[in-house]
Amino acid sequence: MDKNTTNHKNEQFYTKAKKQGYRARSAYKLFDIQKKYNIFKRAFYILDIGSAPGSWLQVAKKFAEENLIKYQDNHYHRKDYKILGVDLKKISPIEHVDIMRLEITKISAIEAIQNYLAGDKFDLILSDASIKKSGNKFSDQVKQANLCLKILDTIYLLKSKGNFVIKIFQGEDFKRVHRSMKDKFHFIKSYKPTASSKKSNEIYIIGLNKK
Ligand SMILES: C[S@@+](CC[C@H](N)C(=O)[O-])C[C@H]1O[C@@H](n2cnc3c(N)ncnc32)[C@H](O)[C@@H]1O
Repeated sequence: MDKNTTNHKNEQFYTKAKKQGYRARSAYKLFDIQKKYNIFKRAFYILDIGSAPGSWLQVAKKFAEENLIKYQDNHYHRKDYKILGVDLKKISPIEHVDIMRLEITKISAIEAIQNYLAGDKFDLILSDASIKKSGNKFSDQVKQANLCLKILDTIYLLKSKGNFVIKIFQGEDFKRVHRSMKDKFHFIKSYKPTASSKKSNEIYIIGLNKK
């Protein structure tokens, strides 16, 4: 895909997001991941790490609301949904979504999330968190992998059989993160959504069915 086509595609998702009321075109990356892997199946309690400006939170809320109606059976379901978004940056409020301004690599952040859960667990953890890119592809992918490994410390807050989605950059250190997730999930896949810019080396690792 040439530069003009890539820019055109980004522009298209941007316009679509504006029209449909999503805060960022990233929303369509999550819709694409959902379409492919059904990560929101029976997801009621959801943690979104690196959520600003909040389009993934908007998408998560949509699916959690649908799930309350869809899954009223004898299998796993909950009476209400609970969505928590955390970011270094301030996020404008979203009705029925909880927001915390936290640095996820700090122990105090994990403690705050643990208190929020009050002994419960999440059904789904999402992370679109991204380091500030320096332009040096090699050191950026090392830093992003280190951030991912820290974020994976939250796995103990995920229920058994729960799902996890995390953004990583392609490169040498991708393997470290992939390996760490492989041990923890029955099914693991890396996926680049259509809405993800071809110019970007971002890719998502999807872990389904936590062991
Ligand atoms: C690509 S944006 C997320 C976009 C979001 N998924 C959406 O759809 O609106 C990445 C976010 O990760 C956040 N982030 C990066 N490092 C973080 C950290 N250590 N703790 C918390 N948030 C972090 C950044 O502040 C930034 O807002």
